[in-house]
Amino acid sequence: MENFFHRKYVTYPSWLTACGDVRNLRILDLGCGSGRSSRMLAERGAKILGLDNSQEQLLIAKAEEKKNPQGIEYIFGDSGNLRLFNTFDMVTAAMLLHYAQKEEQLFNMCAEIAHVLIQDGRLVTLTLCPKHPVQTYHPLLGYSSEWVGPSFQNGSEIRITLYDSKGGEVGGFSNWYWDTKTYEKALVQAGFRNVEWSRCTINTEGKRLLLTSNPHDLNFPEIENKMILSVLTATLS
Ligand SMILES: C[S@@+](CC[C@H](N)C(=O)[O-])C[C@H]1O[C@@H](n2cnc3c(N)ncnc32)[C@H](O)[C@@H]1O
Repeated sequence: MENFFHRKYVTYPSWLTACGDVRNLRILDLGCGSGRSSRMLAERGAKILGLDNSQEQLLIAKAEEKKNPQGIEYIFGDSGNLRLFNTFDMVTAAMLLHYAQKEEQLFNMCAEIAHVLIQDGRLVTLTLCPKHPVQTYHPLLGYSSEWVGPSFQNGSEIRITLYDSKGGEVGGFSNWYWDTKTYEKALVQAGFRNVEWSRCTINTEGKRLLLTSNPHDLNFPEIENKMILSVLTATLS
């Protein structure tokens, strides 16, 4: 999925913009998966510890680090149990919080994140947009998402299906729905302030690309409206 338009020019750039200047920051990249998010932060000068609860994903991340060393460390662990860690300047969790299947899990993850942040440290996350979490397939997206459980109900399962560039299904996974209030309550209860949502928007390079060659004939707002992820940021009090 790394090369899909929305990842390259919309979701990751929006999340990176929200991260700001990360030079020399100690960042815990929770749910680092195969290390894509960790590598982008390391490229920008941050010192990264990537954590994931999938050994398969970590193997891919570690192999990439071996091939192209960026000084990233990877560790197996659960985002719901971070008590053994030292503090970090920032926690990034690109596409992690919506893996919480129960409200207690979401609240616990936010509390654990607060526990590993320095005072005024920031959480910068991409998560399923509470307002537009489902989307039908479009070739520019490479995914579709649909309700498995009742729509817009907290804890409801959403199935994400992935497609290759020719539109063939190549797999999928589930995420769970949480509304704006629940995310905000979990963060405030954990000790965060300045909880802010922002939409994912197309960066300049993506816009230029669409202007010069736009095989799908979609305009900018239409593409941005198809994004099922939002950027969520908060600062630890
Ligand atoms: C969609 S991937 C995002 C990977 C990476 N952040 C990126 O941007 O490429 C989400 C990752 O979160 C991990 N994950 C889900 N629940 C977790 C948990 N409780 N603790 C740690 N990792 C978790 C999954 O294994 C998966 O690798």
